[in-house]
Amino acid sequence: MASGQFISFEGIDGSGKSTQARALAQRLGAMGAEVVLTREPGGSPGAEEIRSLLLTGDPGRWSAETEILLFTAARRDHLERVIEPALARGQTVITDRFADSTRVYQGATRGDLRDVVDRLHGLMIGREPELTFIIDMDPAVALNRGLARKSGEDRFEDFGLGFQETLRHGFLALARSQSDRCIIIDGNRPEAEVAAEIAAQVQARMSQVV
Ligand code: ADP
Ligand code: TYD
Repeated sequence: MASGQFISFEGIDGSGKSTQARALAQRLGAMGAEVVLTREPGGSPGAEEIRSLLLTGDPGRWSAETEILLFTAARRDHLERVIEPALARGQTVITDRFADSTRVYQGATRGDLRDVVDRLHGLMIGREPELTFIIDMDPAVALNRGLARKSGEDRFEDFGLGFQETLRHGFLALARSQSDRCIIIDGNRPEAEVAAEIAAQVQARMSQVV
């Protein structure tokens, strides 16, 4: 059976992931691809309920260990109910965040929990995107962009600038260690310029998307 392509967007809060995921979905859709645009945490009804537990409230509400379990539970539901069925239908799935976010946010910021994240991922998820765009940018600019939205889901933004700097380095290290699927994109540029680079990368690597 044909299997669709799986693309993720990653990066620090406010780096432009949602904007670029939407732009790519529109561009591929206009070219005739069947695209499912989704996000994490969330993307399925059950996972959206878990999302609100994770993103609202006090920054100290959950330990990093509890977060790993909650994010993985949400991801499993999203994978079973949305991502895998769409890929099996041959559709292209574009997700705003996936497992790399857990590797970096939970695995590398509050003690070294990367091994726990990887083991749980192997047990419960066991799937990587074919292509991951890591949007890199200055955390001070990104944080202002993100907080300006006042979404009410700012639990991670509320950890502050130092936390975002650690995340940035975590994403860059991850991109270097998984360079077969990860592409670093400079997000400090106008939206259209970033979108054009991403579209060119998809077309160069994935001729079967459309
Ligand atoms: P993320 O999903 O990474 O948190 P968003 O795509 O929601 O980021 O973008 C955060 C904010 O920054 C939004 O208000 C968006 O309109 C704006 N934005 C996104 N990309 C750019 C860009 N390249 N230049 C300037 N502002 C941008
Ligand atoms: P998102 O809505 O993408 O936030 P933003 O638009 O600010 O980038 O994601 C919500 C928050 O959840 C974000 O701060 C990152 C965090 N997160 C994790 O800590 N671990 C994860 O596994 C995922 C998917 C997200």
